[in-house]
Order: sequence, then C-alpha cells, then structure tokens
Amino acid sequence: MLSRLLAYLTCAGFAAPTLAQSVFAHVIVGNTYSYTRDDWVREIAIASNASIDGFALNIAYLDTINPGGFVQAQLDNAYQAADGAGFQLFLSLDYAAQGTWDQNAVIKTITDYSSRLSQFKWEGRPVASTFEGPDSAGDWGYIKSQTNCFFVPDFSSQGAFGAAAKPHVDGLLSWNAWPEGANNMTDADDQAYVAALKGRPYMMPVSPWFYTNLPQWSKNWLWRGDHLWHHRWQQVAEMQPTLVEILTWNDWGESHYIGPLPATDSAIPTGAQLYVKGNTHHAWLKDLPHYIAKYKHTTRPDESHVTFWYRLNPSNSGSSGGTTCNAPNFQTPKRPHECVADAVFFTAFVPDNAIATVNVTIGGETQSVTAIAPGIFHSSVSFNDVGDGAVSVAVSASDGTEIGPVNGAAITTNCVGGIVNWNAWVGGS
Ligand SMILES: *[C@@H]1O[C@H](CO)[C@@H](O)[C@H](O)[C@H]1NC(C)=O
Ligand SMILES: *[C@@H]1O[C@H](CO)[C@@H](O)[C@H](O)[C@H]1NC(C)=O
Ligand SMILES: *[C@@H]1O[C@H](CO)[C@@H](O)[C@H](O)[C@H]1NC(C)=O
Repeated sequence: MLSRLLAYLTCAGFAAPTLAQSVFAHVIVGNTYSYTRDDWVREIAIASNASIDGFALNIAYLDTINPGGFVQAQLDNAYQAADGAGFQLFLSLDYAAQGTWDQNAVIKTITDYSSRLSQFKWEGRPVASTFEGPDSAGDWGYIKSQTNCFFVPDFSSQGAFGAAAKPHVDGLLSWNAWPEGANNMTDADDQAYVAALKGRPYMMPVSPWFYTNLPQWSKNWLWRGDHLWHHRWQQVAEMQPTLVEILTWNDWGESHYIGPLPATDSAIPTGAQLYVKGNTHHAWLKDLPHYIAKYKHTTRPDESHVTFWYRLNPSNSGSSGGTTCNAPNFQTPKRPHECVADAVFFTAFVPDNAIATVNVTIGGETQSVTAIAPGIFHSSVSFNDVGDGAVSVAVSASDGTEIGPVNGAAITTNCVGGIVNWNAWVGGS
C-alpha cells in the first residue's frame, strides 16, 4: 500500500510524505480529575511500555476555563510526567461535551503548553486536535496565527471529503472506528480520508470495542467489537497511515478503554459501573508492541502470549437493556444479538515461523483450532451451544512454544440486574 500511496502522490504531483508513524491514545482528562502526578507517571510508563508514543488529551470547554478547576491541574500533571518520560502529548479540544470553545480560550490553552518538552510537534509546530467543532473551523485561521499550531481536527460528522474541505485543516483524525451492523470493519473510509487529504497527514483511529448505556446522556447502543481489535491493526499495517490514534485509553462510559481500570470507581460515570467494574481490558496492551512493530516495520518482540476476550453473558441470558446495535440517531437500529457473536475471540502471538494451535475450554468442553498460516493467529470459538462455565485458553505451536492454560472469567447467564452486559472481559497470559 505504501508504494501505491507514493505512486498516487507522485502522479498527483505532491512530494513524498513524511512517514512519522506515531501511535497515540485518546485520554479523557475529565476522567482523571482525581489523579496525582504519580498517577500520570504510572500510566505513562504503562503506555510507553506498550509502544504507545503519546496521549491526545481530550478537554471540555467549561471544565477547562473554570478558574482553579481540575483540568488545568491535570494538564500540568500530565505535561510534567510526560516531560520526564520522553512521552508526547497534544491537546484534543472537545467541542461536543460542553459546548463550543471560545477562540481566545483555545489560544490560551495551546500557548500554556506548546513550548513544553513533551509537546508533540509536526514540522516544528505544536499539534492541536479536536473532537468535532466543524462549525468553528473558521476560528482556526486566527488561532493558528497566534499559536503556530498544526491543526489535525476530528470532523467525522462531515465525512472524509466534507472534513478535508473545511478551512485551515492541516491533517485529519477520523472517529469512524466501528463497523455498522453485523459487518466487519473495513478500511474503506480510511482510504477515503487519505484521498481527500491529498498528502496531508491522516491519523487513523483504532478501537477495540463500543458499548454505552448512560440514560442521563440518552446514550444506549453498541457497535460490533468481536474481531475489531485484530482486524484494525492489520489494516494499519497494510495502509501505513502517517499517524494512529487509539480510541481510547480511559473512556469507561463507552467501553473502549485499554488502560488499567481506575483505583476508585468514582471516575466511572454513574451507571457505567454496572458494565465496567471487573471488566478489565488492559490485557490488550500486551498486543501493541507486536502490532506496532508490524506498522513501523521494526522487529517484533521476542515474546509469546495469548490474549482473549468475550462477553460474560450470552446474548439471550437476560434483557437487552434497551440497547440497540447501531446508533439510533443516524443508523438503522437492530437487536444486539443480530450483530455480535457469543464467542471467545483470541489472538496467539507466536513467532512468525510457528503454526499455533489454540485450545479454548468453556464449561469443561474443549474446542481446538489450528492456524492455517504461521505467525500471529487470530480466531474465535462459539459459546452458543456450550453454555455457561469456566473459561481457559492454552496454546501450543509448531516450534515448541507452549502458553497456559490461562484462566478467564466464567461465562454466566446470571446477569447483573437481569441485563446483559455488552462490554468485553479481556484476559491473557
Ligand atoms: C468477519 O471476520 C471474521 C474473522 O476474520 C470472519 O470469520 C467472518 O467471516 C467475517 N464476517 C463477515 C460478515 O464478513
Ligand atoms: C511491559 O511489557 C511487557 C511485555 O508486554 C510486560 O510483560 C510487562 O508486564 C510490562 N510492564 C509494565 C510495567 O507494564
Ligand atoms: C489441545 O487439545 C488437543 C486435543 O484435545 C490436545 O491433544 C492437546 O494436548 C491440547 N493442547 C494444549 C496446549 O492444551
């Protein structure tokens, strides 16, 4: 794909792009309001160890301008922790959470941090991003003149070509990271972004999951996760986007976190505790050094492991909780089980020359799957007709690699509050 991209760019008369190839994770600063600087030091160390280059710091307008509020304190903590860790940060101004940003507040906030050691820069300019805000795109001429920032917003509501046509856009992040309905996610929309951007950098989104049920914000839908985490990283390796943003590090309310669960439940929005508590996702972090090495064409770690994930409740074991598959405000709502599979999904990270066999045991019954090609092996086994029970996963590979058995959380038809939990439980070796 790289050669195709370069050929396209050459034909179109553009210079070859700078392939900076950095991977960021989106951090909701609002969910860190109780953090100390040590919390940031610890989480940055975990992210760095997982080959993540930096964080995009999502900040909402009213919380940020609140004098003495937590946002400024947490940005200070984050930049101090990152400065000492060789980690990169940039701001993501959220225009949807608490309304439209005043352009002078944008200028002040960018300027407060743009000269920090850890500020992520593109061609020497501090990168600034957004979540939405296409109607304020015109503000960024003045904002750029005052801050010299490199503007990489997410304007996904406008589609790839609409977003790329907005003024002052230097590059784009897409928020279109989840498939519609029962489909697997493809990179068709990412290809549209690359075409629309005509050589400007594209920041490709990668997310593992999506389920939200927060009546206070009228949000109650899921998008199909299932194979998504593995498929998207394959698409990243094939497409070679300039930049990648993982959605997200800590958005508990939408179930797409990959960072460790918070020490206290208070950071999790009311109502989300029901589906987040105990549903750890951080085992996905261990996959990143392998996937990111494929993306950056560096050597994979000399380390074998297995990661596996599934929902703890079969689809028909309780009420759907009114949850729809697809976002009902702009897609056709379906029943969740029409989209998502009752299955244990797994990826075995074995050496590139080894053929993996993965045994998944659910309630005492073992299903054995052997890869058809050597190297990283992703697949799934159904638990539709197996029923409830304890889960364990063991791997053997043709080069003698043995992993596990590793125990997972038990699958149960005893749903909390009678409602199926559509979030994933993630484990691994
Ligand atoms: C989705 O991907 C999985 C795993 O690669 C594959 O088995 C399945 O057939 C695909 N489903 C659809 C609807 O394309
Ligand atoms: C760092 O990554 C390695 C390999 O994935 C893992 O075994 C180790 O536990 C990680 N350490 C920390 C502190 O996250
Ligand atoms: C997987 O299952 C097969 C068949 O039941 C068995 O022969 C093999 O030893 C198992 N492998 C592991 C690693 O448990």
